[in-house]
Amino acid sequence: MSTITEIWLENRRGGSALGIDESAPRVTVIADGPAPDGFVLELLHDDDSVERAEVDEARLVAWPFRALEPRAGGRLRARVGANGPWSSPLRVERGIADGWRVDFVSPSLSASPETRAAHLLRAEFDIAARGIAVADIVRARAYVSAHGVYELELNGDRVSDERLAPGWTSYRHRLRHQTFDVSGLLRGGANVLGAWLADGWYRGHLGFDGGLWDIYGTDVALLLQLDVVTRDGRRHEIPLTWRHHASPILAAGLYEGESYDARLLPRGWSEPGFDDIAWMDAAVLDRSRFAAAIEPPTAPPVRETERLRPVDVSRREGGRIRLDFGQNISGVLAIRPRAPRGTVIRLHHAEVIEDGELGTRPLRGATSVDSYVCSGEAPEEYTPRFTIHGFRYAEIEGWVGELRTGDVEALVIHTDMQRTGRFASSSPELDRLHENVVWSMRDNFVDVPTDCPQRDERMGWTGDIQVFAPTALRLYAAHGVLTGWLRDVAAEQHDDGHVPQFVPWVECGFPNHPTAAWGDAAVIVPWEMYRNDGDATILREQYDSMRAWVDLVDRLTGRTGHWSAGFQLGDWLDPAAPPERPGDSRTDRYLVATAYHARTARIMAQVAAVLGREADAAHYEEVAARAAAAFRDEYVAPSGRVVSDTPTSIALALTFDLLASDEQRRCAGDRLLELVAQDGFHISTGFVGTPIICDALMAAGGRDHAYRLLMQRELPSWLYSVSMGATTIWERWDSMLPDGSINPGDMTSFNHYALGAVADFMHRVVAGLVPDAPGWRHIRFAPQPGGGLQHASASYDSVHGPAAIAWRRDGSTITIRATVPAGSSGTVVLPATGEEVAVGPGVHEIVAPCWSAADDITSSERTDPAPPLHRPTMAERKAS
Ligand code: BGC
Repeated sequence: MSTITEIWLENRRGGSALGIDESAPRVTVIADGPAPDGFVLELLHDDDSVERAEVDEARLVAWPFRALEPRAGGRLRARVGANGPWSSPLRVERGIADGWRVDFVSPSLSASPETRAAHLLRAEFDIAARGIAVADIVRARAYVSAHGVYELELNGDRVSDERLAPGWTSYRHRLRHQTFDVSGLLRGGANVLGAWLADGWYRGHLGFDGGLWDIYGTDVALLLQLDVVTRDGRRHEIPLTWRHHASPILAAGLYEGESYDARLLPRGWSEPGFDDIAWMDAAVLDRSRFAAAIEPPTAPPVRETERLRPVDVSRREGGRIRLDFGQNISGVLAIRPRAPRGTVIRLHHAEVIEDGELGTRPLRGATSVDSYVCSGEAPEEYTPRFTIHGFRYAEIEGWVGELRTGDVEALVIHTDMQRTGRFASSSPELDRLHENVVWSMRDNFVDVPTDCPQRDERMGWTGDIQVFAPTALRLYAAHGVLTGWLRDVAAEQHDDGHVPQFVPWVECGFPNHPTAAWGDAAVIVPWEMYRNDGDATILREQYDSMRAWVDLVDRLTGRTGHWSAGFQLGDWLDPAAPPERPGDSRTDRYLVATAYHARTARIMAQVAAVLGREADAAHYEEVAARAAAAFRDEYVAPSGRVVSDTPTSIALALTFDLLASDEQRRCAGDRLLELVAQDGFHISTGFVGTPIICDALMAAGGRDHAYRLLMQRELPSWLYSVSMGATTIWERWDSMLPDGSINPGDMTSFNHYALGAVADFMHRVVAGLVPDAPGWRHIRFAPQPGGGLQHASASYDSVHGPAAIAWRRDGSTITIRATVPAGSSGTVVLPATGEEVAVGPGVHEIVAPCWSAADDITSSERTDPAPPLHRPTMAERKAS
């Protein structure tokens, strides 16, 4: 008998259903087996009435119950068929909607860059005085948001484990709020709500090249409405009067770190009975003064997801203690000092060690030092609240006595998405590479999909997530984060359709011009989301934004299709580009721009077709055809030779399907194989070429080339960083040079996910798990063994249930085990013959002939490319 293993609403897998926006959210259920009789959904409303519905579908089932009123809900559960066991219930509750009755309260209306302290706010209230007995409380909710970042306490207890709430959105347009269940924390009589409040992204230091303060406003402020519902069905909006005081956090900056003086904590400040005579009344800021829509989250919150203990501890000369956590993370330390009152402890962070010291130069303006002044009152524990660092190593300065196990831990902090995709193979290095991609995704999904977690940047760079989106959506249920981020993309898009290069946009001097591969994120990211879960809602929501971008580029080409002027980042970070000029790629930047225009316009046509907008579909087909023709006219010889003559240019032509004939494709493919071989199977592509190079090689019939590139260990290559001990994906192939020194470029991060987009290739081609229809309705199991691998496997928790593949070679046979989820069908493609075997839901094992691991090197060669004559050294590359 099948049981229900998961229930979620809309595309918020793994997210909370408390405080949602929709009055009729769609429901998806996952069963662990077939569901021939369909499902039963049941909602036990707050008023004890029960609604039941029999549904055939498991995915995105239209809400079959009465619409939810704001702040009302029920317990949703499901079962398979008429007799299956009920799932555990999910509390579904609509949010506050437009029921806000409170205003912002502020402890600080302005601050100078030097005085960025955090503040305490407290509001004491008596529920008995309002005629409420605790025993009569059915539920109590705190609806909370802030200008800044906050943490909430009720009667001395933390209300939630969320960090850096309310998160970062385009605050001018959208301000997120949280809904907390505080029913269990209220006491009879007097209660106290307490909030810690700091600058965060709202008015804190943000941006590169010096950055800015007060980007969204000069105030920090809290918005909190407390609602209590009693057994008689009445809702009480509890009036709150807020007072504020200095906090022990004397300085807090996301980049800078936090300074905390534990001696200054007013004990009991968030509990009843505390004497707040010395506290000041908070200023009240009329909510209507602020234009931003106050919205519930679309994604799970940022929280601590793991704790790491150091794998190595050493005392440094001068007394500092160095800790190696064995993993580059985004997060903070937790320390438990035992030291006399007034002892100052400083926590320094860095991703790497250079010349025996913490390599802090790549952090640029992000100081990343926390400091703590001990209270001397045991037991002491400190974890910074309002900062976050990208680090693997830390040094503790000022520690008194021995450092015992458990005295220091590293807290891994990021958006707490549900893991969906896994990969494993017979190569430990490949597995480590994959693991590094996973970590770079974790470390860079801190509310916004960012470029890096460590230096004075951490921006939602559009190009980075554009290339990484397929991988992101494989590894984690990232739809919620991306849905919210895309709303900001649309909100910050200029009237003419221009999409800023990073969103939320911070005006810190970066040329704000339409940029191919970056602005294209507005179209490609929602399209990838649709392909992943089959839900066209995101396309509908983003349609105007997507269309505006394509129309803008069409205009910029003068409707010729050839994007030939203006600012471009091109194949950013081509390994041949000098460290200080990362945009100096060997590939013509307008070739990149025109290729992307063709691709994005084609996607736009597909989007329009999915949404039934036939006229638009025809129009964008035409725009795409024009761009593809312009690409060929301008950059492709009739023979198929592509101008620039670089792997990136040919990879674009092949994977974006821009060539006119099989003959052209063959010529271009042969040349690609030649170039890659000539380069000694080293990477010679940047941000644009790297995510597609292996696919292009496969399209050119060069499976072996793709594997040699993938399994290459010498610089530049994916496994070079692995061989250097990397635990995340680097921004540059040579972020760390072979002699252990840090790349001299001003822009050198050890934690950028963009070049990790190859993980998608590992799932699709190495393991062979290929979604073949939107939402994984149909799956191809098409392993392409190579690289001497003996086995590989991948799994993906699709919206129909788990899909998986595992293959193992034994001499000249291969055993393929394919798992098809209940709502899907599959085709197993046998590697040696290309024969296709149709399979239905369930697990299938097929044994077939295959080239052996020993044959890998030659089996896929269609041409015999010239061997490399001379592999340029790094110095030569730079000089060129
Ligand atoms: C970021 C990149 C980004 C690039 C584009 C860098 O500073 O870290 O990932 O895409 O700038 O200019």
